[in-house]
Amino acid sequence: MAESFVLNTGARIPSIGLGTMQIEPGAVDGAIYAAVKAGYRHIDCAPIYCNEKQVGLALKKLFEDGVVKREDLFITSKLWSGDHAPEDVPEAFGTTLKDLQIDYIDLFLIHGPIRIKKGTTVSPENFLPPDIPATWGAMEKLYDSGKARAIGVSNFSCKKLVDLLTVARVPPAVNQVECHLIWQQDNLRKLCQSRGVHLSAFSPLGSLGSPVVNGANLLSDPIVISVAKKLEKTPAQVALRWGLQMGQSVLPKSANQARIKENFDIFNWSIPEDLMAKFCEIEQERLLKAEFAVHPLSVYKTLEDLWEDGEI
Ligand code: A2P
Repeated sequence: MAESFVLNTGARIPSIGLGTMQIEPGAVDGAIYAAVKAGYRHIDCAPIYCNEKQVGLALKKLFEDGVVKREDLFITSKLWSGDHAPEDVPEAFGTTLKDLQIDYIDLFLIHGPIRIKKGTTVSPENFLPPDIPATWGAMEKLYDSGKARAIGVSNFSCKKLVDLLTVARVPPAVNQVECHLIWQQDNLRKLCQSRGVHLSAFSPLGSLGSPVVNGANLLSDPIVISVAKKLEKTPAQVALRWGLQMGQSVLPKSANQARIKENFDIFNWSIPEDLMAKFCEIEQERLLKAEFAVHPLSVYKTLEDLWEDGEI
C-alpha cells in the first residue's frame, strides 16, 4: 500500500497518483484499471483533459469488479478557467461528479489563476480578470456541503497563495504545481510547509512528450542517471522518489502498463542524503510556462506577472 501525507483537513492523500492529462479517452480506462491493480489509490483528473467520462467508466468497472471500493480511492478534479464565476462553480462541480460517476470528490482544485469567459477557449479575446476570493467563496461552499472533502488550488505562485490564505475562511489543502528535479520549487515548498498547504507535483518526470516542453529532458540528466545507476533504479523511479522524500505527492502520467508499474515501485527503498544533495546541482528551469496566458489583453502581461519567479 502506498504511503500517504496528511492534509490540513485531517484526511490522507496517497503519495502517488496517476496523472491523466494527455491520456487519450480511449486509453484512459486501461491506464486507470492497470494503475489501481498495481496499487495506485489516487487519480488526478480535470474536465479540460477531455477524458473524465472515460475515467468515470473505468471507476465504475473497478467498483463493480470489486477491485476497490470508492472509499479506498482518492480522486482529484479541477475547476476549469471558464467556470470561475461563483454561480458557475456548483454546476461545473456537478458535471465532474456526474462524469466521474461518483457522489463526492476527495479534492477539488481551482485549475489555475487564469480566467476566461464561460464556454470559450483559451484565446486573448476571452480572457477575464480572475477574482480568486469570489471563486474561492464558492469552493468553500462545496467544502461545506461535504461533497468536496478538500479544496485547493493549482498553478499558484507564492504570492498568489499568500493572497488566498489571507482571505480564505477554509484554507487551501493543496497547491498542485509543476515540480520535478529541473524545477524543484524550493521557495514554494517552504511556504507550503510553513502554512500547512500540501504541495502536489504534476509533471514529476519533466512532462516528457508534452507538445509544449522542448527544454531539458529530466530522465536523461547525467546526475539523475548516475544516482539511478548507483541505486539500481530507473531515472523515473529516482525522480519520483526524490519527490516523496521532499514531502510532496507525485502525479506521474503514463498510459503504458509497464511504466505505470515501474513508477509505483518507489517504496521500500530510499535515496541516501549524500545522493539527494547531488540534485541541488541540477540547473533549474520552469518547463511548463503557460505562455498562452500572457498577452496584452490578459491580466498577465508578462510571465513574471503570472509566476512571480523573481520572488525566488
Ligand atoms: P507514456 O504515457 O508513454 O508512459 P509527466 O508525468 O512528468 O508529465 O511525464 C509524462 C511523460 O513521461 C509521458 O510522455 C509518459 O509517456 C512518460 N513516462 C511516464 N513514465 C515513464 C517512465 N517510467 N519512463 C519513461 N517515460 C515515462
